[in-house]
Amino acid sequence: MTTATAYAHPNIALIKYWGDLDPTLHIPANGSISMNLAGMFTRTCASFEPGLEEDRFTLNDKPAPIPSSRRVSKLLDRVRQMAGIRTHALVESQNNFPTGVGIASSASGFAALSLAAAYAAGLELDEKDLSRLARTGSGSACRSIPAGFVEWQSGGSDEESYAFSIAAPEHWDLVDCIALVSIAEKQVSSSEGHSVANTSIFQEARITDAPRRLDICRTAIQKRDFKALAEVVELDSNLMHAVMITSDPPLLYWKPETVSVVQEVISMRKSGLAVCYTIDAGPNVHVLCSSEVAGAVSGMLKELPQVSKVLECNPGGPAWIEKSALHGNNRD
Ligand code: PMV
Repeated sequence: MTTATAYAHPNIALIKYWGDLDPTLHIPANGSISMNLAGMFTRTCASFEPGLEEDRFTLNDKPAPIPSSRRVSKLLDRVRQMAGIRTHALVESQNNFPTGVGIASSASGFAALSLAAAYAAGLELDEKDLSRLARTGSGSACRSIPAGFVEWQSGGSDEESYAFSIAAPEHWDLVDCIALVSIAEKQVSSSEGHSVANTSIFQEARITDAPRRLDICRTAIQKRDFKALAEVVELDSNLMHAVMITSDPPLLYWKPETVSVVQEVISMRKSGLAVCYTIDAGPNVHVLCSSEVAGAVSGMLKELPQVSKVLECNPGGPAWIEKSALHGNNRD
């Protein structure tokens, strides 16, 4: 029996992935850029055990819901196919942050699972192939494999669709202050959302303009230009939500509290603070700023009655294997 334990951070998309060219392999309609979130992680322990009659998956110490277990088994099937084995696996995952509320727990989850399962199966995958594997579990998971600021090129094919680091975590001391307004599990999964993206008349315009936004975002990161980053990040988030609310059926992840936090961020900026907002497939608001003003920004967000908690994250490193937790083999 070979056991491996891996960790991965969630990531916040600065340029969003929304809609697939290939929904099975999660080949995205557009490229995206993200920042890994240090401090938050999924820890996943995987072992292929000859005695098991089926895969067993526990999430936060409880048997996982059937749809999540199916997605995990699909990824394990890929690993088994690559390794030429048929053994079932025991997978135990824990998140040290709220699950399913728009903090990308599926991204960190499938990144950690890919690394742990590949290692436990004896596969030696490089970063590109791990990113490709993670992508098949949940698209955005491919961005939680490399370090820091990460770009996922659409690539258009299984071979070419993967993520790579465009700047190390130390490159820019940005902080993501996540203002939690609700920790209820979301009603509509992002997979369902991707599948209806094309029903919005705005999706085509969003996709056509994506290379321009990616260039602006990449350059803003390279030059540490917060003003340029803030403009493109807010535009991109608004474009994605415009597609969501005009899809068939329409998807509205925002709550009244989400909008009021966004308005507070806009007022903070008017008062001279360098801040911007971005929102994923959930009601919580990610407020980006530089580390010099993070204390002040976080303090102001905590004062708001609609905000229950603020999580502060710096740029995070890549997914990693816990060496001391390796058993049953002699790989280093
Ligand atoms: O990887 P998925 O299927 O959970 O999709 C992620 C979708 C967003 O979080 C809304 C955007 C993104 O690029 O992370």
